Amino acid sequence: MVQKTTELYRGKAKTVYNTTDHNLLVLHFRNDTSAFDGERIEQLDRKGMINNKFNYFIMQKLQDAGIPTQVEQLLSDDEVLVKKLNMIPVECVVRNFAAGSLVRRLGVAEGIALTPPTFELFLKNDALHDPMVNESLAVAFNWATEDQLAKMKQLTFKANEVLAALFDAAGMMLVDFKLEFGVFNGEIVLGDEFSPDGCRLWDKATRKKLDKDRFRQGLGGVVEAYEEVANRLGVKLD
Ligand code: TMP
Ligand code: ASP
Repeated sequence: MVQKTTELYRGKAKTVYNTTDHNLLVLHFRNDTSAFDGERIEQLDRKGMINNKFNYFIMQKLQDAGIPTQVEQLLSDDEVLVKKLNMIPVECVVRNFAAGSLVRRLGVAEGIALTPPTFELFLKNDALHDPMVNESLAVAFNWATEDQLAKMKQLTFKANEVLAALFDAAGMMLVDFKLEFGVFNGEIVLGDEFSPDGCRLWDKATRKKLDKDRFRQGLGGVVEAYEEVANRLGVKLD
């Protein structure tokens, strides 16, 4: 049995631990919830558990659809065993409807449909507020190769197809989401997490926000919304 050993990295919402197997890590989902690149952080009871179980459920769906993921085994309420990836510091964002930074940047109305869905890259750097970048910059700065970027884009659009259908069937719109990839044995593998912390989900009928925008915008009922999303998808929480 693999054992958790030393702390490797403490992120804004998760802590990463080394294990007795140098190819494996433990991700611990904490209750910390951050917005505005870590400027605001609060502890929300049960959030770590909900996101851990939600992430495991979604990663299994993506794995079943042929997207390689880092997830190995659910360990506890708030911990999961994963492959140790060499992370690519570029975030992949797909949008099906306009919201968030796209609305601020282009002055378009929130909620307009984007056809076809859009694809953007952001540099993972809180101090610089995750600036938008592009393929050319990513290659020039050796963040990723052309081939790796092409694969990341293909897998992100594939994930969008799978997840948009999954949420639609549960009465929700997948507005947008962010994925992070890494390299394991030379292969591009989906890492980090998929949870309501890193996507936007709206109720199809009312357009009620069911994701981290509730926290960012001070709408309240953050954990209740995450729990509702999990329940609608049939994720077992207790
Ligand atoms: P944005 O509208 O702020 O650019 O974000 C688009 C989506 O990606 C949204 O669901 C939030 C998610 N996202 C993160 O979770 N972390 C990030 O650092 C970025 C840039 C986006
Ligand atoms: N995940 C980033 C942060 O925690 C961006 C955000 O969600 O607002 O600051």
